[in-house]
Amino acid sequence: MANWPYGPFIILVTIQVFYVDLVPKTTTFDPIICESLPKFNTEIRQQIANISADIQKIIDYVVNGPDSGLTYKELALFVDQFGSRFTGTANLESAIDYMVDRLKRDKHDKVYTENVTVPVWIRGKEWAQMVSPRNKPLNILSLGYSVGTNGSVLTGDVIVVKTFDELKSRSEEVRGKFVVYNYDFKSYGESVKYRGQGASQAAQYGAIGALIRSVTPFSINSPHTGMQSYANNVRKIPAVSITVEDAELFGRLAASGINITVSISMEARMDGEAVSRNTVSEITGSSKLDEVVLVSGHLDSWDVGQGAMDDGGGAFISWRALSVIKKLGLKPKRTVRSVLWTGEEMGLIGAQQYAQQHINELSKMSIAMESDIGTFTPTGITYSGQNTTAQCIVNELLKLLKPINASQLRIGSEGSDIDYLMDKGVPGSSLDNRNDRYFYFHHSAGDTMTVENRRDLDLCTAVWAATAYGLAAIDDQLPR
Ligand SMILES: *[C@@H]1O[C@H](CO)[C@@H](O)[C@H](O)[C@H]1NC(C)=O
Ligand SMILES: [Zn+2]
Repeated sequence: MANWPYGPFIILVTIQVFYVDLVPKTTTFDPIICESLPKFNTEIRQQIANISADIQKIIDYVVNGPDSGLTYKELALFVDQFGSRFTGTANLESAIDYMVDRLKRDKHDKVYTENVTVPVWIRGKEWAQMVSPRNKPLNILSLGYSVGTNGSVLTGDVIVVKTFDELKSRSEEVRGKFVVYNYDFKSYGESVKYRGQGASQAAQYGAIGALIRSVTPFSINSPHTGMQSYANNVRKIPAVSITVEDAELFGRLAASGINITVSISMEARMDGEAVSRNTVSEITGSSKLDEVVLVSGHLDSWDVGQGAMDDGGGAFISWRALSVIKKLGLKPKRTVRSVLWTGEEMGLIGAQQYAQQHINELSKMSIAMESDIGTFTPTGITYSGQNTTAQCIVNELLKLLKPINASQLRIGSEGSDIDYLMDKGVPGSSLDNRNDRYFYFHHSAGDTMTVENRRDLDLCTAVWAATAYGLAAIDDQLPR
């Protein structure tokens, strides 16, 4: 396809990326508000009490019983065989075929896929080198949607800035140079703007490329990739992540007044579009089958590492939740649906198309749950809905997870794939976990099974299965 078919699409994505990372703020739930809710106290509490034995069965089965260790085992089998599953690759589609077969073998009531059109971006070969004041190879990763260097080696001097404000104040110095962003890392949410917009901000002052400090609090000289997007009105210049170590090296050299020169070669380019698929499976509800509790994670990953943490873990606890419900013979009233999204890393593409195509069903979606911020030791879930009765229901249900210390409810949203559903009024929920180390590995070659833990994956599976089952088993869908 022609040069850049995704203009309007990328604008949407730009807004989305920064919304996702900056807005979600949560507060701890205060159960005092539940005392004054008559229906909750008389009827709904009793309904939840009635399923407490089922919830305990789920916990026992997954954490200490026959399925103990199984999520880890399944995830390892998958991740070790397929490795990375990048959007637009045949390997991702093979991995999806494998999952369809796997879900059928677990006898989910329905297993199907839904086509999703995805843009294809190809990294190709890439290298970078500091050539002055000395020769030093740089570990780089081109950022998603970056252009390449058109078959030639791009060489130029470097200007190092800490912030967009500094870039602006020194804009006269930028023309013809690479801009290095060596920001002070505070949090992913505060720093990811340099990855997302760094190239465009630099290009408006005539930069030839952007070298962006990896968005991570910890490093052993590994670059972390991720998506960036170009603003409409500027030249598209190469955008790469560099390591924390190299960003700080550049920072120190520049602060000492030493001139830095860098050479870079990148084959990155767009290559039209392809058809991928969201992978869907269901346990059909026993009486309210058109009402849905949705659990989800994304099956695609970055092209480096193996996407075990981002988001193999989240995807696998989602489909495993349905398998556990099925194996235990539990019969929830409403349908429990697992969606393994595609194209998340390249801009929440599968989730966006899903929300558009299912827009008429969303009033009957009780909740959309997503696990995409790690499957480390779970602590509870977030809930985005503002209705206090619904918050009290979720809180009451989470009390049944006290035996595994996962009862914490935070009000608000972490979201990313479920944002499109939440925008349409569906309450959203994310799996909360002790993920302090998440960004150590995120979007890097270090995202492998070595990050994952057998028992944590069991606990996360139990939280996911118990919550989904509980919300599908009570009489009514969550009030909005
Ligand atoms: C999904 O995409 C495949 C491959 O392009 C195509 O053969 C199939 O007809 C599509 N299915 C639907 C329902 O559009
Ligand atoms: Zn992810």
